[in-house]
Amino acid sequence: VIFVLALVLGLSRRNQGANGFQSTFIERCEKFNGPDCQNIWKVFSQAYVRRDPCNVPMEAYNALMAAASIQPVCNRELFWSKTKQIVHAFTAKRDCYITMEDTLLGFMLDGLTWCGKENSSETFTSGCPGWSQCENNPVRSFWNRASAAFAEAACGDVTVMLNGSISTPFSPASIFGSIEIKRLNYRVRSLNVILVTQNNTGTDCSNASLKDLLDTLGAGISYSCRAVPEAQIQACSSDPKRTCGPCW
Ligand code: APR
Repeated sequence: VIFVLALVLGLSRRNQGANGFQSTFIERCEKFNGPDCQNIWKVFSQAYVRRDPCNVPMEAYNALMAAASIQPVCNRELFWSKTKQIVHAFTAKRDCYITMEDTLLGFMLDGLTWCGKENSSETFTSGCPGWSQCENNPVRSFWNRASAAFAEAACGDVTVMLNGSISTPFSPASIFGSIEIKRLNYRVRSLNVILVTQNNTGTDCSNASLKDLLDTLGAGISYSCRAVPEAQIQACSSDPKRTCGPCW
């Protein structure tokens, strides 16, 4: 009796985790007014369910990107690398800038972990491979694939906020450095780097890693860089005008 009870309890707890993930996904989708959230869930889960969680390549999410496509955005795309918190504090107030996490897919999956297992039709939220444990894990491949689509949708003048408190603000191993910058296409006119600094300490626009950035940037795209203290960005965040265009 104890064994059966333990089994039933164990199974229901496992399902709760999986259903909890699915309901968070659907709730966030509906909150965003996503089109056909049930279908998006189905297409999303097909990317990793019943698969070895270390063998889910970016391409597994191609069908998802077709079902929940990222529309072209001109002059308002904001990329980031090692500046997540400050950037989202900024865009929460200045809604003219759009980050990956302001698109339907980014909004639904921000902060979540998920994976499947061979021979199981469930979604798991624990026991999944870590970000660097194996390259083709469901979470990392999703962000790589979605970020590629986000960069391909960019148009006009785009902005990136990089961290001026670290020695390599531009890292070729980051998603921005390995995926997004390479996917900016002919529709993009300029890439404007904002180097977020702490009271003008740390690095400036002469940082060696920014030369790597320039080497990676497509020939037709112009480049600018400006070091801006974090306090100034925060002051811009509380500017109630919510207008586009730089405030620094
Ligand atoms: N472990 C866990 N998560 C990681 C790790 C890691 N080692 N590295 C990256 N991530 C995930 C986290 O969710 C983290 O918040 O990627 C996010 C961004 O990592 P950063 O190194 O700060 O930046 P980057 O790799 O350049 O990715 C940010 O990608 O999603 C797009 O448009 C977005 O421009 C942005 C860029």
